[in-house]
Amino acid sequence: MGQFGGRCVGNLNAVARLNIPSICLQDGPAGVRAVDLVSGFPAGINAAATFNRDLIRQRGVAIAEEFRTKGAHVYLGPSMDVMRAPEAGRLWESFGADTYLTGESVYATIIGVQSIGVQACAKHLILNNQETYRFVESSNADQRTLIERYVTPFWRAVDANVTCVMCSYNRVNDTYACQNPALIGETGLLKKTIGFEGFVVSDWGATHGSAADNANSGLDVEMPGGWILIGGGVYSDLEHEVAQGSVSVSTLDTMVIRVLTAYYRLGQDQGYPPTNFNVQSSSNNDHVNARSNAHTSLIKTIADASAVLLKNVDNFLPLAAPSTSGPARKIALIGSDIGAPNKGCLLNACDNGTLSIGWGSGTTTLEYLVTPLNAMNSAVAGTTTTLVTSPSDDQSKAAAAATGADVALVFVNADSGEYNVVPVDLESGSTGDRPNLNLWHSGEALINAVTKVNKNTIVVMHLVGPTVVESWINNANVKGVIMAGLPGEQSGPSIVDVLFGTVNPSGRLPYTIAKSAGDYNVHTVEFEFSLEPDITYTEGLFTDYMYFDAHDITPRFEFGFGLSYGFTTRYSSLQVSGSGSTRTVSAIVQNTGTRAGTEIVQLYLGFPASAQEPPKLLRGFESVPLDVGAQETATFPLGFNELSVWSVTSQSRTVPPGTYTVYVGSSSRDIRLITTFIV
Ligand code: BGC
Repeated sequence: MGQFGGRCVGNLNAVARLNIPSICLQDGPAGVRAVDLVSGFPAGINAAATFNRDLIRQRGVAIAEEFRTKGAHVYLGPSMDVMRAPEAGRLWESFGADTYLTGESVYATIIGVQSIGVQACAKHLILNNQETYRFVESSNADQRTLIERYVTPFWRAVDANVTCVMCSYNRVNDTYACQNPALIGETGLLKKTIGFEGFVVSDWGATHGSAADNANSGLDVEMPGGWILIGGGVYSDLEHEVAQGSVSVSTLDTMVIRVLTAYYRLGQDQGYPPTNFNVQSSSNNDHVNARSNAHTSLIKTIADASAVLLKNVDNFLPLAAPSTSGPARKIALIGSDIGAPNKGCLLNACDNGTLSIGWGSGTTTLEYLVTPLNAMNSAVAGTTTTLVTSPSDDQSKAAAAATGADVALVFVNADSGEYNVVPVDLESGSTGDRPNLNLWHSGEALINAVTKVNKNTIVVMHLVGPTVVESWINNANVKGVIMAGLPGEQSGPSIVDVLFGTVNPSGRLPYTIAKSAGDYNVHTVEFEFSLEPDITYTEGLFTDYMYFDAHDITPRFEFGFGLSYGFTTRYSSLQVSGSGSTRTVSAIVQNTGTRAGTEIVQLYLGFPASAQEPPKLLRGFESVPLDVGAQETATFPLGFNELSVWSVTSQSRTVPPGTYTVYVGSSSRDIRLITTFIV
């Protein structure tokens, strides 16, 4: 059954004689897409900003509960393309610029999703790091860069027993990812070296050549199209090619076994709800409710935990909470980003209201989105606080609203998404990747128009990835800045709680914010003369903070950075125990501030010089809640996953011998304790 016959974005044919229903593959990474009565979860980039494995796992559980309720068998996620260039259009679907943070987030997500009996589909294998030219470009990387920097999260996906891997559109070192035996074949990297026992599905339309070319390369399922013997696309010829002998029966058997093993292993033959929605047509939708109060509350919790406080002059934030007895106060709420988006944009490919998720196949429903405007109106109702609103990006209206206000809250954003799925918003000039790292709708000018008339300006940013903030960040009238990312449908209630201090922010940047776009060494390739451009990863292992550290470039806000309210910490008692390549690092962290908060304790490793790694690499993180005065021990297991690198010589992951430096601290540049151990 092809895409036109089924209910989901991808459908495998039912096999009536074996009682196997049509298996439903459905987007996307932040919740069931294009379906009613589901939730809009925070994007992957916000899950990463929590640096909290348990919340990330719970997000996977809740998303999967909605997939299961809707009868969708395969969750087309997590997206796990490690951010290479800061402009990459889909980087927000994944978990940021660091391989380890991505791998741990992937592991927690898949464990969560599959615990509900829903299959996860890790995507996109591999080097799918930009949208422009994604159907034709060749991403060229040396073996170590390819495996260590980009494939490693797939290793973690296999550790979590993922049932499905999606190969990407692009070519990898000149060979299309889905027709690449060295990558997806039975004796290749994924299935042999890493030991993946599930099935490989093509990205939608990522097949080329004949059925035999694909089947013999290790592609188990073609999408969209059909499944094995029936359907559209190149696999409509598969039966013929098997009859001709160009695909062996044993290859075909292996393909079928890989698909069906996943189905039975997760128990999808036992009481799995039938698919009860239809994204292909408006009929056949049973309108089954998959939402719940528990999911709504988790969405809010993750939004809270992913808000990154970037600036807070003289503890200006949090604002005093609205009350019925306090002194009269006027708050100005400014920007198109405070209000409701136009829900009519296909796959949310426009940016005309508050930004809670990017566009494309990874987007979610906006049906239940609570905007900052609505949430703030509720918060001040019946109190001595009044609101003046300017829900547009008109600078003179903004200045008028901000004039005389006690506080001016300016909401700005930067959007991006998937290439070529939908007609893309023209205003930004974007076709997927961001053409620059600026805010949309002249957000910088909007901020500056407000700061000219208001000394107490707070900036809230809803962002898909890094933005350059230099034109306004040091303005003395900007008293506070919150980077809220893409928080999902509880955006409004969350930012209100952060602004008024009901929530003490603890989110950390999952990427570097540079002082200038030119400080990043890698950018998306926007224009090439070739019809089949080559994108060569000459930077090797050195992107984002790894590059900034190696070249001593001071960022505006470093990877792992984030402030809290009235929360300061003291680190002590760094210890390393164990031997060889199994170690445990522990450190005591104490809240020496005046408010309870959560410290994200981060461990970076400096590898032996002979390993030729970047100066330090994230290899541990713990989210540690602390009451005033309280202290806790943060513990980091360092095993093979943390200590190994890819050895081209031995063609395996190995632990390089030598001296390791352990850096423990509050960000990649706020290192509080250092020690070493020798392997
Ligand atoms: C995207 C995939 C997605 C698929 C199905 C493709 O264009 O790259 O991530 O799962 O469409 O919608």
